[in-house]
Amino acid sequence: MKDNPSIGVIGLGYVGLVTAVTFAKLGFRVLGNDIDSNKIDLLKQKKSPIYEPGLEELLKEVMDSNLFEPTEDFQRTVRESDILFICVGTPTNPDGSPNLVYIEEVARGIAENLNGYKLIVEKSTVPVGTARWIERTIKLYAGKDADFDVASNPEFLREGNALHDTFNPDRIVIGVESERAKNLLLKLYEKIDAPKLVVDINTAEIIKHASNAFLAMKISFINMVADLCERTGADVKLVADGMGYDRRIGRAFLNAGIGYGGSCFPKDVRAFHYIGTKNGADFSLLEKVEQINNSRIDRFMDHVKEALWYLRNKKIAVWGLSFKPNTDDIREAPSIKVVRRLMEEGADIHAYDPKAMDNFRKLFPDINYVDNKYDALKDAHALLLITEWDEFMPGNVDFEKVKELMRTPIIVDGRNIYDCEFLEPLGFEYYPMGRKKCKRE
Ligand SMILES: NC(=O)c1ccc[n+]([C@@H]2O[C@H](COP(=O)([O-])OP(=O)(O)OC[C@H]3O[C@@H](n4cnc5c(N)ncnc54)[C@H](O)[C@@H]3O)[C@@H](O)[C@H]2O)c1
Repeated sequence: MKDNPSIGVIGLGYVGLVTAVTFAKLGFRVLGNDIDSNKIDLLKQKKSPIYEPGLEELLKEVMDSNLFEPTEDFQRTVRESDILFICVGTPTNPDGSPNLVYIEEVARGIAENLNGYKLIVEKSTVPVGTARWIERTIKLYAGKDADFDVASNPEFLREGNALHDTFNPDRIVIGVESERAKNLLLKLYEKIDAPKLVVDINTAEIIKHASNAFLAMKISFINMVADLCERTGADVKLVADGMGYDRRIGRAFLNAGIGYGGSCFPKDVRAFHYIGTKNGADFSLLEKVEQINNSRIDRFMDHVKEALWYLRNKKIAVWGLSFKPNTDDIREAPSIKVVRRLMEEGADIHAYDPKAMDNFRKLFPDINYVDNKYDALKDAHALLLITEWDEFMPGNVDFEKVKELMRTPIIVDGRNIYDCEFLEPLGFEYYPMGRKKCKRE
């Protein structure tokens, strides 16, 4: 193996593409492979198939310096790389179990193309025990004497901050069972200044699931408290502040609202519950986490109905469709469930999102999309705030204009970004979650 190992990244989605370009930026030669030929075509034109701040610029830079090459050629990716990162999707089956079929296909493909030692690294989020399956699969198809190691190096990046998180992670988890694998991974991350935890593979796999499940639990916990606040006239934002000062608790992930979504938390909570239960541990806590999260849509829709009674033929403006700000990702976004409910009620939906409308249009071609946030509001009966993009923040909105445009100045806020104290004097009715609402009786 050369001094500077060459890297192959298999699966160029939100995680794989960021992984590939950041390793290229660190000076490694990276081949990136995906089965989606549209993705590869776009990448060859130095265009990013996803929106992530700074990604397209970095993609261009590393392709111009010949450090990153996207390719449809899986065989070549395996044969020309010393280290292979598996970054394919790991979706959920209907029973909550993780679907690892893409991981299995990649493992089999690697086995069939093995040409000398490879370090095979799982970066996709997988349940504990998956590395063992990868190892068994490689041996099954490449023979008992195949020269390889499997490692777990889970990814913790946040969409919307992915590049920053990859260059400045809170920690790097390295799950290995050989010195060779350990040294290779430590070399890859040499230039990244972060605590590096070298652990066994099962521990590494559990660290990832436990971290995501814990964050989801924090969100559901504060949402549970939000319901009590709402019924007793308390303010969940202030409760969260009061809790957050305690360093043992921390303020992050204590924002009550419409609940978590995205491609990770919902599926990881389910997968962790599944694997925990399958191994005989009591993981019922996570059932509640999911149940509370699902109920947030009902709470939100209760507010919409409390404000408007019936929705049939009423014009509803929706601000924000992505599952969180700074991404075009709508996977398991709360907006999907809300829009479905609004459609069932017969509402006339006018939606705006800075980046996610193209993706949303594929799911909901028949609702109205507008090019700026104010266009959604003309004659609207209510504004529903679903995603807290910067441009929806109080300082970035002209509320006089909002009021003038709307038929009835009602705001239902799924992210608690506004306040009664501010909106009531301007003549708005305001419905936050777990906080005082201002409503004219
Ligand atoms: N998105 C996140 O914020 C995030 C963060 C941490 C971890 N993860 C985990 O990383 C993994 C990937 O997530 P993602 O969001 O990047 O998914 P994604 O769906 O955006 O990307 C997966 C990619 O893999 C490709 N692929 C599937 N099978 C393939 C094969 N056989 N060969 C080559 N390419 C193949 C798909 O075409 C797709 O482009 C998941 O396990 C996820 O849980 C995601």
